Amino acid sequence: MIQLENVSREYGDGKVVYALDHVNLRIERGERVAVMGPSGSGKSTLLNLICGLDEPSSGAVVIDGVNIAQLDDDRRTRLRREKIGMIFQTFNLLPTLTATENVSLPLRLNGVSRKDAEQRANTMLERVGLSGRVRHRPDEMSGGERQRIAIARALIFKPPVLLADEPTGNLDSTTGQEILNLLDALHGEFNMTILMVTHNEEAALHCDRVIRLRDGKIVSTTSVTQQKANVL
Ligand SMILES: Nc1ncnc2c1ncn2[C@@H]1O[C@H](COP(=O)(O)OP(=O)(O)O)[C@@H](O)[C@H]1O
Ligand SMILES: [Mg+2]
Repeated sequence: MIQLENVSREYGDGKVVYALDHVNLRIERGERVAVMGPSGSGKSTLLNLICGLDEPSSGAVVIDGVNIAQLDDDRRTRLRREKIGMIFQTFNLLPTLTATENVSLPLRLNGVSRKDAEQRANTMLERVGLSGRVRHRPDEMSGGERQRIAIARALIFKPPVLLADEPTGNLDSTTGQEILNLLDALHGEFNMTILMVTHNEEAALHCDRVIRLRDGKIVSTTSVTQQKANVL
């Protein structure tokens, strides 16, 4: 469960800009939420606060009952690695590492032996449909394949939360659709909570709820199930 209690993130002294402005949000385990809104509305700030890369100026961010601002650096890093998977528009893979090495890296950083880590990485790569490509490096793979590696890496600890910043933003529509279908299947299997920033209405339909941000505030919340029912 993710809970934001009156969270603000301010920038600047003198004239203060609110990247997020007193936001309250509660997301249940297994829920999928799309975050939409114009550029500069606070979407990335929201993700950064939830994964602990950034700290609120006021208010509390609580993940699975833990207020992340109260953790020391080591414990926050560990929470981020084990409980929160992240995928990005630009995939953020390490170019000199193979698919197996990219996916096993978080395990290696947690002290898992190379053999075990690579075995678990290859099992996850198989799960995302890349079993024949594990020894390739990202620059030898297509955009869709790179995003599959990034998804395998994000889910290697089977985290309760997956954050996605425009996961289909750099993909053509067919490939984007395949990635959304893969996320649907993985969600069915692992029941992780998904928070996905997207500009794509189609991607939002793969979620349960859409929240729209403007000027750092949540200006609307729509249930997708209800929306689909209205269309039918
Ligand atoms: N490091 C920063 N310094 C100053 N202002 C920032 C910084 N990061 C973000 N902002 C401001 O906060 C607002 C929200 O930014 P951001 O969360 O990146 O929006 P989005 O992801 O929706 O495009 C914007 O007005 C942006 O200019
Ligand atoms: Mg952004």
